[in-house]
Amino acid sequence: MSKTLLNATNISHTFDYPLFSKIDFALQEQESIAIVGRSGSGKSTLLHIFSSFIQPNEGTVKLLEKNLYTLKENELEKIRRYDLGIIFQAHYLFKGMKAIENLEIATLLANESIDTKLLERLEIKELMEQKIGELSGGQQQRISIARVLSKKPKIIFADEPTGNLDKETAKLVMDVLLKYIEVHNAAMILVTHDEEMARLCNKSFRLENQALKEF
Ligand SMILES: Nc1ncnc2c1ncn2[C@@H]1O[C@H](COP(=O)(O)OP(=O)(O)O)[C@@H](O)[C@H]1O
Ligand SMILES: [Mg+2]
Repeated sequence: MSKTLLNATNISHTFDYPLFSKIDFALQEQESIAIVGRSGSGKSTLLHIFSSFIQPNEGTVKLLEKNLYTLKENELEKIRRYDLGIIFQAHYLFKGMKAIENLEIATLLANESIDTKLLERLEIKELMEQKIGELSGGQQQRISIARVLSKKPKIIFADEPTGNLDKETAKLVMDVLLKYIEVHNAAMILVTHDEEMARLCNKSFRLENQALKEF
């Protein structure tokens, strides 16, 4: 039996309008799950709820056996630092610093080291000495993905990680993420509007009419 890394039950949340109602969701080790849906359907909000950043109006999120929204801030910080790999749309790279320095900060904080093979596979190894501000959007995006994976997270939460990449580079990034999960016995939840990318995952769900439906 594989281990359950995330178990969300009975999740409901409303902002200006009800986004979801009584959603159940589970993620196992080695699993990649895609969530697709129209803009405004609440995909990003759901990912934030699963990853400790937004407490839902109702329901519980158990992550690595811990009931997320009952934890103290320092316990949450520990989980975020060591166990979660957050790839959100805005990547917070330090623009004035070199690519390599951005990676070093992450590995230092997580007591890990930089994986040169990973940089090769993402085709960013040659960019390490350049300042972030000198790199293209797509290059920056791959640096930020390398930074997240360098922390060796147990669960990856990715919100449109291939959003501003061309098809070929997007495929390359997906391959790297899926390989990472396999090798490190990790798991991933991927939010995307690209059904082709979704199909590369083990399971795909559509967020529609306040519910998640597998397709
Ligand atoms: N922090 C927030 N406060 C208020 N409304 C929000 C907040 N975050 C998202 N929303 C609203 O919730 C809805 C769903 O947003 P979002 O989860 O970003 O959808 P998606 O990622 O599917 O496009 C939108 O109408 C958005 O304006
Ligand atoms: Mg979104």
